[in-house]
Amino acid sequence: MINKNKLNLGVNVDHIATLREARGVGYPCPVEAALLAEESGADSITMHLREDRRHIQKEDIYKYSSTMKTHLNLELAITSEMIEIACDLKPQDCCFVPEKREELTTEGGLDVIGQFDFIKDAYEQLANSKIRVSLFIDPDFNQIDAALETGVPVIELHTGAYADAPMEREELELKKIIDSAKYASEKGLIVHAGHGLNYENVVPVAKINEIIELNIGHSIISYASIVGLKRAIQEMIKLIINARG
Ligand code: PXP
Repeated sequence: MINKNKLNLGVNVDHIATLREARGVGYPCPVEAALLAEESGADSITMHLREDRRHIQKEDIYKYSSTMKTHLNLELAITSEMIEIACDLKPQDCCFVPEKREELTTEGGLDVIGQFDFIKDAYEQLANSKIRVSLFIDPDFNQIDAALETGVPVIELHTGAYADAPMEREELELKKIIDSAKYASEKGLIVHAGHGLNYENVVPVAKINEIIELNIGHSIISYASIVGLKRAIQEMIKLIINARG
């Protein structure tokens, strides 16, 4: 369960489903992986139900919700279909993300400024169903201000630009995350972060005290394919907890 006094790890199991869908068979099962991730210390499980259903399927989120020990953070694009599913399933957390069919993964944060009314309206629909909503945004003060104005309690800062930065830009991208996390937290937002974080780049982000949850998928699932899920998760927890000293 999420504890506001420590850095929590949300494990994204989408890529277990990617492997399953690559063959169109019934294995490996992302729900089984989610339960094992919980046993291994994950504080929550993230699943992204994409419009094109390229990995997680609707049955996965329902099946996990009926067996989970922690809680589901459901990532979704803002569409009427997804809002309907979320209001029916009522996961504890939903994270709105931008989605493009042609992208390999979520490429950037939401444009909360440009889509303000649309996002606020979607947030209010989920809030009425008692779902805690977060907005996946770039580390940008203007987007944070707009997020705050929608009324959402949580933002997830997109760490992709930092993770993908060439060495000479890494410090600059990290500073944007540090400054944004501080700014958002001072304004009363709960701050999460994620995307592209791995065993080599996670520590500087984990050191940012204002961030209380990291959502990590691809690197953990990739490492797990070599060393097993339990060890992959436990090594990541050790890294992020030790980062806080
Ligand atoms: N957070 C959000 C909002 C995402 O969309 C993703 C990717 O699905 C992640 C975190 C995890 O990213 P990664 O798989 O690169 O760790």
